[in-house]
Amino acid sequence: MDGVHPARDPGAPAAVAPRIRSVFAGFGGALPPRVVTNDDLAATLDTSNEWIIERTGIRERRIAADGVTASDLAAEAARAALADAGLEPEAIDGIVLATSTPDRTYPATAVFVQAKLGMTRGFAFDVAAVCTGFIYALSVADAMIRAGQARALLVIGTEVNSRILDWSDRGTAVLFGDGAGAVVLRAAEGRGDTAEPGILSTHLHADGRHEGILHVDGGPGTTGTVGHVRMQGREVFRHAVSKLAAVVDEALAANGLAQGDVDWLVPHQANLRIIDAMGRKIGLPPERVVVTVDRHANTSAASIPLALWEAHRDGRLRKGQLVLMEAIGGGLTWGAALARL
Ligand code: UT7
Repeated sequence: MDGVHPARDPGAPAAVAPRIRSVFAGFGGALPPRVVTNDDLAATLDTSNEWIIERTGIRERRIAADGVTASDLAAEAARAALADAGLEPEAIDGIVLATSTPDRTYPATAVFVQAKLGMTRGFAFDVAAVCTGFIYALSVADAMIRAGQARALLVIGTEVNSRILDWSDRGTAVLFGDGAGAVVLRAAEGRGDTAEPGILSTHLHADGRHEGILHVDGGPGTTGTVGHVRMQGREVFRHAVSKLAAVVDEALAANGLAQGDVDWLVPHQANLRIIDAMGRKIGLPPERVVVTVDRHANTSAASIPLALWEAHRDGRLRKGQLVLMEAIGGGLTWGAALARL
């Protein structure tokens, strides 16, 4: 009976309403070509390759050329993610972009990306949560897809950290790098259990009482200048270890999952010592933890999507695997996300 719904058998069980969830459909990334090594920095700063490697695990970082902005890197990463998803820009309903180094105070960096991609429809806005920015952006995009407001979204983390570093401060200048990562999220229908592909849950936290331990000392409403990154590294480290451990437990408990269920830890990349501590906490061997900090340094909001892109491209990430993402950064903000690929 074409076009006519057959009458439902009153004795049959009611069909389970499908639940919408957000599935990773594509990954992309962009790294500026210029590599700056620890020795390069030691030429002008009172530091050494040995100190940086021992305390952070960082060997080199990428630095964007003059004139290259966060939206340039983001557009390149977005194009790669769209190609990976097999989608044209016109299929995208919106862009949710995380950055702490926007092209301008306004408009949002996301609209520059939209224009660079040639998109003429959909929405575009930025999320500011510093190094937790990608987890926050992913959470917002996931909620919009679940609510039915969008069917396909670009979620991007992009930074030109080199523009807000004090290059005479060895305590911060050696830690950061530039780059962008992007994912395409698509709506999919399912039963809503943890074995199905999709973002299972996201967990966001902030505690503004600690803003002073990692911040930029300028802005349009205060100094009228862009300002520079200032960090009390040891204090941030102390918070990182305890808060990330707690939010990882929270994410697993929310889904009734155990540490042994996790296939990959894809953490924010600030310090190899923090990454190793989190891997040990979850009981994952080092080969199940995606590490890019040695080559990218800390790319803030871009670090998780860049790590996802790298592990996807080299075939480590496979369909059906459980990925745990976590991050902490200025704010303080911190959070985690669990996703089935
Ligand atoms: O992405 C946002 C989240 N950020 C983080 O998670 C960063 C967390 N913090 C860290 O990763 C670490 O605290 C740092 C890598 C920033 C610093 O490592 P640390 O082992 O905590 O070193 P420290 O700050 O306790 O400094 C130890 C010493 C100090 O000298 P004194 O006071 O002991 O004489 C520093 O002045 O190392 C000195 N130092 C350096 N020495 C050589 C600091 N930076 C450098 C440097 N080169 N680049």
